[in-house]
Amino acid sequence: MTALITFDEQQGVFHLHNRKISYLLALEEGGILSHLYFGSAIDSYHGQLRYPRVDRGFSGNLPGHTDRTYSLDTLPQEYSASGDSDYRLPAAIIEHADGSRAARWIFKDYQIVDGKPELAGLPQAFVEDKTEAQTLIINLVDEVSHLELALNYTIYRDRAIITRSSKLTNLGSQAVTIKKLASLQIDFVAKDFESICLPGAHANERHLTRAKVTAGVKSFESRRGSSSHHMNPFLALVEPKTDEFSGEAYGFALVYSGNHKFELEQDQIDQTRLLIGINDYNFSWDLQPQASFTTPEVLMTYSEAGLNQMSQAFHQIIQERVVRSKFKHQARPILVNNWEATYFDFDEEKLKPIVADAKKLGIEMFVLDDGWFGHRDDDTSSLGDWSVYKKKFPQGIKHFSDYVHEQGLKFGIWVEPEMISLDSDLYRQHPDYLMQVPGRAPSPSRSQFVLDMSRPEVQANVYQQLSQVLDQGIDYIKWDMNRNISDVYSVGLPASRQGEVYHRYILGVYALLEKLTTNYPDVLFEGCSGGGGRFDAGWAYYMPQSWASDNTDALARLTIQYGTSLAYPISTMTAHVSAVPNHQTGRQTPLKTRGDVAMSGVFGYELDLTKLSQAEQATVKKQVASYKQIRSLIQYGKFYRLKGPHEGNQTAWMFVSPDQREAMLFTFQEQAFAQGALTKTHLAGLKPDLFYREEATGQVYSGAELMKLGLYDPVVHQDYTSKSYHFKVLD
Ligand code: GLA
Repeated sequence: MTALITFDEQQGVFHLHNRKISYLLALEEGGILSHLYFGSAIDSYHGQLRYPRVDRGFSGNLPGHTDRTYSLDTLPQEYSASGDSDYRLPAAIIEHADGSRAARWIFKDYQIVDGKPELAGLPQAFVEDKTEAQTLIINLVDEVSHLELALNYTIYRDRAIITRSSKLTNLGSQAVTIKKLASLQIDFVAKDFESICLPGAHANERHLTRAKVTAGVKSFESRRGSSSHHMNPFLALVEPKTDEFSGEAYGFALVYSGNHKFELEQDQIDQTRLLIGINDYNFSWDLQPQASFTTPEVLMTYSEAGLNQMSQAFHQIIQERVVRSKFKHQARPILVNNWEATYFDFDEEKLKPIVADAKKLGIEMFVLDDGWFGHRDDDTSSLGDWSVYKKKFPQGIKHFSDYVHEQGLKFGIWVEPEMISLDSDLYRQHPDYLMQVPGRAPSPSRSQFVLDMSRPEVQANVYQQLSQVLDQGIDYIKWDMNRNISDVYSVGLPASRQGEVYHRYILGVYALLEKLTTNYPDVLFEGCSGGGGRFDAGWAYYMPQSWASDNTDALARLTIQYGTSLAYPISTMTAHVSAVPNHQTGRQTPLKTRGDVAMSGVFGYELDLTKLSQAEQATVKKQVASYKQIRSLIQYGKFYRLKGPHEGNQTAWMFVSPDQREAMLFTFQEQAFAQGALTKTHLAGLKPDLFYREEATGQVYSGAELMKLGLYDPVVHQDYTSKSYHFKVLD
């Protein structure tokens, strides 16, 4: 096997490379590890990028060194510490027994191993075969405290992907406290960057937001105990000229669902430091002698051909090497969910006609949403009591699931396992399971509270209840989380270790999911947190798909799905057709547009099928049938963004099969104009010399024509319209 990682002993340079990318780091004087390069592949390196030595005022030097041109304050480093003469943001802050917080990471040794070692207890990218990747582990030490820091770099052979994480081991004789430990640091020199992040809110997630990187510090973070609607754990750094198809793009996605922080600092000489990891907000971790702490990992990619190429690298690694479920390559069932159809107001008899209609229309799964358990008629009770509400299902859930199965549909169910209502048997039996600070009243949110998932006994209680539900003929679980964490404290930990609770919470949830997904491999798990409040690569490790947003309005969804696609594959993104006027925005959009937007993801319906007119039923039947034809192309094809909703009146995207013989194009227009300018859409990703037939019109085009000449967009006289085109190669 050809080496993906080499070490040039003479130059002291490590080179991670494949045919797409290279990453270079070097040993500097005093054993400091410096960053040389991350970008498109190079074959060899001859030392030309060694950092120039310049004497800069107020940038101090290493102890014992007289060379005033060598300073940690300016040197691009692979990993920094606090308490020395690097005044930029530190990657690590460790408090020693004497109260000091200084460290200096000095190179000790390295290892190169085939494949990718596992990160215990954390979600991560994996290999199926050791020849797929190589891993470089560089061990650094702080010689005073005997802390050992391992920097892990895995490069995949056939992907423009490197993963990074770090691990701190206490080889000293006294405990230390980790106050901050980043998963990665990269120091860029001579780059004029813009950042692209994905902020949002409930029902308004992941809006592509681009800004110039300027002097000072900017952070993109969540302090909500989850990856959040508010700032997704993703960041891209791009050139000002970068667009969907050209220019450099560095992409970073943290494989973690808890509090995260992405920090950017542009320093005194316009160098940019990037730090990514667990948020240091209210974080601390007690590290006893001989103990280790491993950070979550970051997936990073580099593209010299714009944002589509960056996104495609993420889509492929997450789809193929992060998602583990047996459903990862399977056609995902088209479902109908009763939430927007009935909210809490349902019982078995009211749901049966919806199931019957779903069957008639070709829908493949019925999902029973919130309100089937405890005595839940609204959102003020019963979270924590995962047994059937007898008033709604007098003969139990198994009886209803049998009915759904007899109709030929799969049966799914909603749960919100991390939560507790005050009005619940669980709270009456175990009030201490509710997370709260002693002596202070906890804050409700949606009238509910959070279970202390850091405690093994709480995880065990939830596992036991959920496994009883899963044993009743359940094919699918929608795992929700309808508030953020507050009042963070665990009675399971001593006072000195309360800073561990946020991270232990998510580790507890991961442990529970590991057990559930291992013991119930045939259940399809869908993630949800008030829509897309936990849409991250860590969650994808356990849940192959997630509800992208509670906002089902087709127009709003264009922005949300466009932003989501920057990092996450289409197969992870669920999208449903709902009723009009839309329940979140009041907007009326045509059923065709609602269908085309939802068909651009993992497709389903979220409305009362029994209330559709005959004409609407016929349209839905056609939508379901046509989605079945294009399902594998949509879910597993290559996705190209062509026009973004943030740029103007139109959105366009397309899906191309791996062999480039089939493609689906969707174009959307927000407003109609009386005398609008003519517009065109240029396709992408086709083979220029193949001939493609558009299925609806029979018109034949060469790939080159579709990509270079493009297609005229239709002139429309209605707002919120869409058009779909299905191309197949002419045999
Ligand atoms: C969240 C979900 C919705 C629905 C409700 C039920 O808001 O995102 O889809 O399941 O909870 O309470």
